[in-house]
Amino acid sequence: MAFPARLGVGLVLATLSVGCRAADPFAQSNLRATPKRGAVVAEHPLAAQVGVTILNMGGNAADAAVATALALAVVYPQAGNLGGGGFALWVPHEGDPWSLDFRETTPSGYGTDLYLDDKGEVVGHRSVRTPLGVGVPGSPQGLFELYKVHGSKSLTFASLCAPAIALARDGFTVDAWLARDLRREPARKRLMSDPAARGLFYPGGDALAEGEILVQPALARTLERYARGGQAAFYKGPTAEALVQTLKEADARQGGIVGDRHMSAQDLASYRVKVRKPLVGWFRGHQIISMGPPSSGGLALLQVLAILDGFPLDDDRNRVRRDRDLGVAVPAEECGLSARSAHWLVEAMRRAFADRAQHLGDPDFVEVPVDRLLAPEWIADRRISIGERSDPGVQAWRSAAPKESFQTTHLSVIDKEGNAVSMTTTLNTTFGSGIMVGDAGFLLNNELDDFSLAPGVPNTYGLVGAEANRLLPGKRPLSSMTPTVIREGGGRVSLVIGSPGGPRIITSVIQVILRVLVYEQTLEDAISAPRLHQQWKPEWTRMEGGWPASLLETMENQHGQELRVEPDNKFGSVQAILIPDTRVPEAVSDPRRGGRAAVQD
Ligand code: DON
Repeated sequence: MAFPARLGVGLVLATLSVGCRAADPFAQSNLRATPKRGAVVAEHPLAAQVGVTILNMGGNAADAAVATALALAVVYPQAGNLGGGGFALWVPHEGDPWSLDFRETTPSGYGTDLYLDDKGEVVGHRSVRTPLGVGVPGSPQGLFELYKVHGSKSLTFASLCAPAIALARDGFTVDAWLARDLRREPARKRLMSDPAARGLFYPGGDALAEGEILVQPALARTLERYARGGQAAFYKGPTAEALVQTLKEADARQGGIVGDRHMSAQDLASYRVKVRKPLVGWFRGHQIISMGPPSSGGLALLQVLAILDGFPLDDDRNRVRRDRDLGVAVPAEECGLSARSAHWLVEAMRRAFADRAQHLGDPDFVEVPVDRLLAPEWIADRRISIGERSDPGVQAWRSAAPKESFQTTHLSVIDKEGNAVSMTTTLNTTFGSGIMVGDAGFLLNNELDDFSLAPGVPNTYGLVGAEANRLLPGKRPLSSMTPTVIREGGGRVSLVIGSPGGPRIITSVIQVILRVLVYEQTLEDAISAPRLHQQWKPEWTRMEGGWPASLLETMENQHGQELRVEPDNKFGSVQAILIPDTRVPEAVSDPRRGGRAAVQD
């Protein structure tokens, strides 16, 4: 991929640019080159294949994304879903980017007190494996909305649902990943304690094994109703009734904590997706488009890239170029990233996550100071505060006033017209709450654990939060999902990217972008390379296995970084498509998991 001349950094908020933009810089459509083929990358080969089939039938990126997500709801029950939520970013080949928030909302009867015991202490598991953790699902309405607003209309909604219905009705072969995840704790115990989930995934008491066929007739019926009636067929009628009844029964099994405050038919009927303005920023001449609140992903991504832009990362890159010219092999895991650059990266992440913990939440409930947190003065302040030593005590902007095996899933699509969809969707932890709506055949999320349940009390991901992310009825919990698209001159999409991984979504996306844009690695190498993760609290930085020992040593000894290497842990699962100057898309599914890239012939 060729890099445009460095244009300097400017952060532009789409929300702020309205009215002061003189001309659309991408309005020169004669400059826009379209990809030679469409491509889909997702975390299951069957789902990626469904997406490409839809492209081959004349569907666009939105059509393919909807069909892929529905297929994931069948073949990847760990995270693909009807009972969860997510975010989708649509970047058209012409015109303004658009983003959709189909995040779950808090049922109207819920309050933080439901998570507390008699002494006022948070009972952690309540937000994870009881009906109290379940938010009102957003995916069925989100996918329908994406189809309605941006689908090509050359295909009906029913035809986008058809491949998922066939996979549910006729069955598919369980792969090694599903078989493994069904055996793993704590998901196994959670699913086993739910009668419907146990019946489906543990027939006879044992987890389905690789190679067995999983048939899901109840899910097929739910999808058929959805195909015929659109989103309304989920939020009202038999599916909604079964969902409400399931939560009541699950609560009764677990001791009846929820009482009469459980999710109601009214909560479902009043659920609404939100169209949000995407966040737009710049990094070395590349336009970075990502998700705004209630996701923290886009903001943290733009903050980190902007902070890093003031550091001489090019020195490393130039050293690699020199080595290459001299024929010296540069290992992919290193790619020239020096210990000093890794230290800067860690410190930039630390600062972004401090702001996240303090200020971010659902913008419909709290004022999120997005413009202040991306303001050049604040970015400059953050940059200048980074010295040669680690700074665990760093604090967030002040106004006048860990473990793996969690699963979310990301899919990226580009079509031949050059339209892109970057979509991340989740049940939160692997298989969500483990509560299955038996009559309708789908699992429910435990997304409400993403709220800060009490000041300073970490959630499943070790994240702490503040007032801005306090649980309130109707509110959406703060997310880390970071669906992102990068564009070049003429509005040409050059990268479609995203990942699962809780807070490591943000840091995974940052690192792949840096490796591609600054260190000139191939997309494949950039995705395979080891990752690090820093999220402010805890203070230490987590390192995947595979980093050069000398880099770790220098980070610790010279820069005072506290590092914890987790050789067996995998951070995120990036699903990305790079469209280089040749216009032939390079689609890569992270080798950390079992996804697949599929490119049109
Ligand atoms: O929205 C969030 O940030 C989390 N619920 C995402 C969970 C996740 O990515 C788990 N995946 N690996």
